[in-house]
Amino acid sequence: MNLVRTFADARAGYEGIVALVPTMGFFHEGHLALMTAAEHSADTVVVSHFVNPLQFDSPADLERYPKDLERDMAIATEAKVDILFTPTSAEMIPQPLLTTVTVDGLTDSMEGLMRPGHFSGVATIVAKLFAGLQPHLAFFGRKDAQQLALIRRLAVDLSFPVRVIAHPTVRESDGVALSSRNTLLTTDERHAARELSSGLFAAAAAAEVGERNGRQLEKIVSSALQLSRPDYVELASQDRVERLDELDRPAFLAVAARVGKVRLIDNVAFDLVAGEVVADRGIRLEHPSLLYR
Ligand code: PAJ
Repeated sequence: MNLVRTFADARAGYEGIVALVPTMGFFHEGHLALMTAAEHSADTVVVSHFVNPLQFDSPADLERYPKDLERDMAIATEAKVDILFTPTSAEMIPQPLLTTVTVDGLTDSMEGLMRPGHFSGVATIVAKLFAGLQPHLAFFGRKDAQQLALIRRLAVDLSFPVRVIAHPTVRESDGVALSSRNTLLTTDERHAARELSSGLFAAAAAAEVGERNGRQLEKIVSSALQLSRPDYVELASQDRVERLDELDRPAFLAVAARVGKVRLIDNVAFDLVAGEVVADRGIRLEHPSLLYR
């Protein structure tokens, strides 16, 4: 594996079709699944590893985010990543940064509403990764459904010649979506965190047997949240992220809740297959995550 710190050094190592997996490091099986999918579709896999200060809500939140480059290098080597791109702050965020990217419309609700500035931070950094690394393919997780919608739109609106590919959410064996933030939970909080996925799975089951009412589906999730404090529960369209009264197009049912000091997000996607609603609940690990290794 090649460890590089500049866009030019990354591009110098390319052969054939190039796939990018953008990350903020502290790898878990969600990231690994994106890397594996990228390997199956490309000749060169470049994983970017940058804890993007532009997308954090506060310096304290940024400070608490788990970081361990040595650990991540070992995991990326084992995963047969070709290039690990760990840019300096100066490479990613020249000072002063006068050009930023915002995607309107899709970012007014949910995470965008709760975390002002967050999505502009994401859009700016992802636009820079697309421009500087020039990948043919880029892989993103469905775990961050609103982020995925924004990145698809950004690629189209700014004419980046990249194909954005979505991967299902990878979950721990009890259903909790993998997130590096899970490592910040106490044992009791980790137990409470199950409410998010179990509420979503109950709603997914209801949708698959015919429940189409957006408020009803949201209510099924809300009523599962007893120990955690919800920020929102919302059914929205996959492409425009518009709140839906009826599940009548590709959608996702999203939840954000606070468990102790930790804020967790999760969703199930609803796809339409031959007119039928099919829930994408993601994939469950059968073993403990490498987060706890
Ligand atoms: P990060 O949270 O490190 O996630 C990197 C990629 O992994 C994203 O596409 C995210 O959706 C995906 N991912 C995270 N957890 C997942 C899970 N449990 N299952 C499947 N995929 C999962 O998302 C970011 O970083 C940043 O916002 C970034 C796009 C890198 C821009 O800074």
